[in-house]
Amino acid sequence: MAEIVLENIVKRFGNLVAVNNLNLRIEDKEFVVLLGPSGCGKTTTLRMISGLELPDEGKILLDGQDVTFKRASRRDIAFVFQLYALYPHMTVYGNMAFPLKTQGFSKEKVDEEIKMAAGLLKIDHILNKKPRELAGGDMQRVALGRALVRRPKAFLLDEPIGTLDAKFREEMRTELKKLHVDIGATTVYVTHDQVEAMSMGDKVVIMNKGDLQQIGTPSEVYHNPENLFVANFIGSPGMNFIECMPVKDEGGNVTLKMTDVNQVIELPDNLQKIIIKNNKIDHELILGIRPEDINLEFKECKNYINAEVYIIETLGSYNIIDVKLGKYTIRVRTLPTVSPDIGTGCCIGLEMNSITLFDKKTEKSIMKN
Ligand SMILES: Nc1ncnc2c1ncn2[C@@H]1O[C@H](COP(=O)(O)OP(=O)(O)OP(=O)(O)O)[C@@H](O)[C@H]1O
Ligand SMILES: [Mg+2]
Repeated sequence: MAEIVLENIVKRFGNLVAVNNLNLRIEDKEFVVLLGPSGCGKTTTLRMISGLELPDEGKILLDGQDVTFKRASRRDIAFVFQLYALYPHMTVYGNMAFPLKTQGFSKEKVDEEIKMAAGLLKIDHILNKKPRELAGGDMQRVALGRALVRRPKAFLLDEPIGTLDAKFREEMRTELKKLHVDIGATTVYVTHDQVEAMSMGDKVVIMNKGDLQQIGTPSEVYHNPENLFVANFIGSPGMNFIECMPVKDEGGNVTLKMTDVNQVIELPDNLQKIIIKNNKIDHELILGIRPEDINLEFKECKNYINAEVYIIETLGSYNIIDVKLGKYTIRVRTLPTVSPDIGTGCCIGLEMNSITLFDKKTEKSIMKN
C-alpha cells in the first residue's frame, strides 16, 4: 500500500519558486494526475516525491512515514521519465532484468517477474529484441515493464507517452489505465495535456506557476472550476468568458449587464441569490459558460442574446461555431449539421444551470460561497 502526503512543500531554484506551499494527499491505489502548463512545477513535484529532489520546506509522508530526507533508492517508488533511457546493448529481457539483478533476485525469480510484467504489457513477443528494433510505443512499454518488475509501492510517471503520436497516445492511455486497474498501485501521472488528465485521473491536480489551482475529480474540475485559470485550461475549447455587472432593479430583480455590449442577461433565482449573498451587486463579475451549454438559434427567442456567425470549425462529430457580439467571441458547440453562412445573424441562449460566475478582481468562482 502507498499513501503519499505532501505537506506545505516549497521548492526554490534561486529566486524562482518552482513549487509554492503545496499540500496534497494521494490515497492508496489512487491514480492522480498533475496537470498544468509548461514550467508550472509538475516534474519538480514528482522528483520530490521520488527523492531525486529535496524540498526547501515542508514534509513528504509515505504511508505515514516521513521520507522527506530519505534517499530515492530507499523509497520503493518507481519513476518513469518521458524519454526513458533503455540500455541499447541489452535485449528487452536484459533491460527488464537489470533492476532485479542489482537487487540480488534469483534467476528464477527474475524470470517469473519479467513474464508477469511482459504479460500485462503485452510485450512477451519482443523480449529478445534490442531497443533500436522497437517502435516508440513498445519502447515505452518496456520502460514501464522495467518499473513494474520492481513491484514498487507507487509509480511516478512523467509524461510517459508525451512523445508518441496522437493515435498511439490514445491507445497507450487506455492501456495504462487498464494496467492501473489490474495492478492497483498508487500512481502519480504528470501531463500538460488536459484530455489525457481528464480521461485517466481519479483525481486531477491543476497547477500554474508553482501554485496549486484546484484538486478534484475530472467532473469537478470541469463543471465546478474554482477560478478562471482552471475554467480556461480544462476543456477544448475552454470556457467562454463574458464580463458583466450585476444590477438590481427597483423590484429587486438582479440581471447581468454585459460590459461594452448593450445587452442584458436575465438570471434565475438561484444565481440572483448567489450574487446577493456574495455582495456582488455593482461589482464586476465574469460569467463563464462552456461551448456545449450554449444554444444557437437563427430566429428570435426570448432571453437570447443577438450575435453574428464569425467562424465555423467542422470537427466531424460536432462543430464549433464562433459567434461575435461586440468585443466578445463566443464559442458554441453544435451538431455537425449546423453550418450557417459566415455573417449570418443569430442568437444565443445560455443554459442557466451551467453558468459559473467569477469575481473579476480575484478571478475566483463565487458559486460555492
Ligand atoms: N534544476 C533546476 N534549476 C533551475 N530551475 C529549475 C530546475 N528545475 C526546474 N526549474 C524551473 O522550475 C520551474 C518548474 O519546472 P518543472 O520542470 O517542474 O516544470 P513542469 O511543470 O514539469 O514543466 P514541463 O511541462 O515543461 O515539463 C520552471 O520554471 C523551471 O525552469
Ligand atoms: Mg516536466
